[in-house]
Amino acid sequence: MKNVTKVNKAVFPVAGLGTRFLPATKAMPKEMLPIVDKPLIQYAVEEAYEAGIRHMVFVTGRSKRAIEDHFDVSPELEMELEASGKKEVLELVRSIAPADMACSFVRQPRALGLGHAVLCAAPIVGNDPFAVLLPDDLMSGPEGGPSVLAQMVQQFERTPTCILAVQEVPREHVKRYGIVAGDAVGERLTRVRQMVEKPDPESAPSRMGVAGRYVLTASVFDMIRTNPRGAGGEIQLTDGIARLMEGEGVHAWLYEGKRYDCGSKDGFLQATVDFALKNPELGPGLREHLRRLAV
Ligand code: G1P
Repeated sequence: MKNVTKVNKAVFPVAGLGTRFLPATKAMPKEMLPIVDKPLIQYAVEEAYEAGIRHMVFVTGRSKRAIEDHFDVSPELEMELEASGKKEVLELVRSIAPADMACSFVRQPRALGLGHAVLCAAPIVGNDPFAVLLPDDLMSGPEGGPSVLAQMVQQFERTPTCILAVQEVPREHVKRYGIVAGDAVGERLTRVRQMVEKPDPESAPSRMGVAGRYVLTASVFDMIRTNPRGAGGEIQLTDGIARLMEGEGVHAWLYEGKRYDCGSKDGFLQATVDFALKNPELGPGLREHLRRLAV
C-alpha cells in the first residue's frame, strides 16, 4: 500500500526575475547567487534532501538554464578534475546531485504569482503530498538539530494536513508576508483559522508570518486552480491554502531555527557574514577582520 504521509517531492519556484539584485542578476538566475561558496538554490535542495525528499521539481523560466546545469553532470569538468587528481573537489562537484536524487524541470511561462508557479508543478507532483521551498528564504535549523523542513516533515507524519512554517514578525513587516492566526494545539503547532496575504498592519489577524517552507497536500492544486486572483493581482498560494482551512485543515509550525531573507540585500549580507563566520576555514580570519573594523 502507498504511504500517504510520505513527502517525497519538493517544488522550488525559481522563475522570478530577481530585479532587486540587478545588475548581478541580468544574465544569471538570482537563485545562483552564492552565500560564501554555495548557490542559494543548493542550500534549499540540500534542506529537502536532508528531510528525506528525493525528487526535486524546479519551476523555472527563461534565462534559468544555469540552474538545470548546476544539478546535471558536468563531464568536461569532472574529467579535468580527475586527470589533475583533485579528488576532493571532484567529490564536492559530484555531491551536488547524489545518485538517488531525481530532478524535474517545468517552465512557468508567465509570472502570474506563487500559486501559479506551484500549479505548474501539478502534473509532476500528482496526488502525493509535497514540500515547497522558496530559495530566497535561507533557513538554518538549530545547531546540531533537524533542518526547518525536516521538522515540518516529521510534523506532517503526525498531522497529515498542509503545514506552513511560521515565525513572529515585527508589526511593520506584516505587509511582506502571508499572515496566519488560529488555535494553539501544541507547543509549536497552531490550527490555522485565518490566513491573509500581505495584510495592512491594522487589519492583520496576528504577527505570525509565513516563511518560505510549506508541506502541502495535493488538494491545494484544485483550490489554486479555481481561486480568483488575490493580492497584487497575482494567483496567490496563500489563498489556495486558506481554502483548505475548513475541510482538511491547515497547521502552522513555529519553526526552530533562523531565516535569512536573501531576497533582500540586508538578509543576503547577514547570511554571508553568519555562514562565513561558521566556516572553519574562513571564520577566524573574518572574525579578526570584523574586530579590527569595530575599534
Ligand atoms: C511569499 C508568500 C508569502 C510568504 C513569503 C515568505 O511572498 O506569498 O505568503 O510569507 O513568500 O518569504 P514573496 O516574498 O514572494 O512576496
